[in-house]
Amino acid sequence: ARTGDLPLILLDWYDSHARAMPWRVPPGARKAGQRPDAYRVWLSEVMLQQTTVATVRDYFRRFVTRWPDVTALAAAPDAEVMGEWAGLGYYARARNLLKCARVVAERHGGVFPADHAALLALPGIGPYTAAAVASIAFDLPFTVLDGNVERVMARLHDVHTPLPTAKPELMALAQALTPVTRPGDYAQAVMDLGATICTPRSPACGICPWRTPCAARRAGTAADLPRKLPK
Ligand code: ADE
Repeated sequence: ARTGDLPLILLDWYDSHARAMPWRVPPGARKAGQRPDAYRVWLSEVMLQQTTVATVRDYFRRFVTRWPDVTALAAAPDAEVMGEWAGLGYYARARNLLKCARVVAERHGGVFPADHAALLALPGIGPYTAAAVASIAFDLPFTVLDGNVERVMARLHDVHTPLPTAKPELMALAQALTPVTRPGDYAQAVMDLGATICTPRSPACGICPWRTPCAARRAGTAADLPRKLPK
């Protein structure tokens, strides 16, 4: 496979292997031009910081049932939102969540801006969340770099530089691969690959859609990457 084929190979895999999640609209079930809702993408990404997908599912469902859009959330009393958040931990996230909802409601007319810089300017939205919302909700070609993506990139390119030193290098490699078509599906495809196949221990290289181009698989180093500096 040539470098230009890599995103396409992964998107093909994602079309049949995407994990079902309550904030996703599966690629096959989407009408032309339809995007996942930015409010749901933002809410899920904030919840998924430091919390597993398995735990987030039910919290996410309860939140969107009670507050179906950002204007509804913005109008909720603080104590009710903190109450629904209880158990997710990292309570500063919940406080920032409300702050952000209120800014979107008051200064953006209740509509998340389809613009990376404007997203980054919102309370509690850092580079990761801005890139996730821009790509997943608005299909803008921004690169999402989380632990899964770092591991996948380190292996695909056989990067032996230890983390966290390797972060800029892995970001550059991830950016170079990000396609302009379907960047949102691509971002979630890399995350799913890292969560289900390119796992930290005993990766399932035999069934990986990127097994042929993977440099670490060829070198036999996949299970040892990414390297980490001793803490
Ligand atoms: N982890 C964080 N965001 C995710 C997403 N959109 N899909 C899968 N795993 C994730």
